[in-house]
Amino acid sequence: MESGIRQVDFSRKLFGDNFAWGVSTAAFQIEGACDADGKGLSIWDVFTGKKGKIANGETAEIACDFYNNYKRDIDLIRELNIPNFRFSISWTRIIPNGTGAVNQAGIDYYNNVIAYSLENGIEPWITLYHWDLPHELELKGGWTNRNIIGWFSDFVAVCAKAFGDRVKHWMVMNEPGVFTGAGYFLGNHAPGRIGLKNFLPAIHHVTLSIAEGAKKLRGILPDAIIGTTFSCSYIEPYSTKQRDVAAANRADALLNRLFIEPLLGCGYPVKDVPALKGIEKYFLTGDPHNLTFDFDFIGIQNYTREIVKYSFFTPYINARLVKAEDRAVPLTEMKWEVYSPAIYNVIKKFSAYAGVKNIIVTENGAAFPDVVVNGEVDDPLRVGYLQNHIEQVLKAKNDGCKVNGYFVWTLTDNFEWAEGYRPRFGLVHVDFETQRRIIKSSGRWFASFLKR
Ligand code: BGC
Repeated sequence: MESGIRQVDFSRKLFGDNFAWGVSTAAFQIEGACDADGKGLSIWDVFTGKKGKIANGETAEIACDFYNNYKRDIDLIRELNIPNFRFSISWTRIIPNGTGAVNQAGIDYYNNVIAYSLENGIEPWITLYHWDLPHELELKGGWTNRNIIGWFSDFVAVCAKAFGDRVKHWMVMNEPGVFTGAGYFLGNHAPGRIGLKNFLPAIHHVTLSIAEGAKKLRGILPDAIIGTTFSCSYIEPYSTKQRDVAAANRADALLNRLFIEPLLGCGYPVKDVPALKGIEKYFLTGDPHNLTFDFDFIGIQNYTREIVKYSFFTPYINARLVKAEDRAVPLTEMKWEVYSPAIYNVIKKFSAYAGVKNIIVTENGAAFPDVVVNGEVDDPLRVGYLQNHIEQVLKAKNDGCKVNGYFVWTLTDNFEWAEGYRPRFGLVHVDFETQRRIIKSSGRWFASFLKR
């Protein structure tokens, strides 16, 4: 047995033959080649060029160089025995200005990625939107402009027609809560907008676009398996005091319920977060229905637990997260608490919605400060993290939850948004100077776990 790898007393078999095992990535975090072959600029290309936005001024101009060397990394997926590969489509490779002319080179590139995956017995799962909005559309208001529903739906149609004959599984968007919250309220992600005046219309137009994009897919590809993914936090109150419990409830509404509930036909959780009331201003006739779609699955993405406390000084929500650093708990490189029962609890929570038919864990993983020693990367903390979380997924499944898949975030170390390259989440280590890859102990463990 290799160092850092312990024997676990559960095996892949216990999850059943139809359980989908995979690895997840996102275009902007791995591809690089930001202006190759006719690609237009995205809001992340522009944001990373601004001073002070990204740790150490890093950019994703090269990232993992996946665009030029996708075969190298798909070979690694095969070597790790991973049967499903989730990746996202960069909108500006397909439609450089966001609307209008289609760029055949972009279509060719994703066709090559799909073909090479299939040749290697790997099933491609597509995320249509993982945060890299066309910059040209941001100039027109981005997600705050209601016309984006049509622009997005046209992009979805192009992808469905181009790739739908070979791709069965589709996810419309990745974590709307994060890209609207960080990008349109806090301003620490692209496009860097702040305040409720941006956040509220963005929430509504994103939710309408998720439903509309899914309907567009269904219209073109009646047999597609259609989902969308959500960031899911397991939230606990700081104490049993009524005001902390109520604060945790408000945080839960904002972080966990904001997007899924309107999509399921339950409306926005305005009662629990009165600051959301202003969203009604953006409603047009028919919207409550336009917000809904009957998804084949939802993707849930969980990394940690949050402890929430009442806070007089936090505007709109009067609740704040108690930092994991201040709680004397084990931490990842992101300063997130390592707490595997979180994933069990979020699976239970989302499984309880009557409208949720199937759950796939579309992301789970951890960043730790890996080091290369004699050409090897031993990462026992990540091995333990994955083992414990997978065990919790099994527990949820055995409890009768509708969970039928688990995807690790992520294949290779990559560009971690505003944090740059420091946090390493990969099963495979990347030397960003040389692009050399080293499979970490965690990658080896996952490969041996998946081996039939
Ligand atoms: C996102 C990924 C990100 C990961 C780790 C998720 O929020 O979908 O793009 O890299 O978490 O932060």
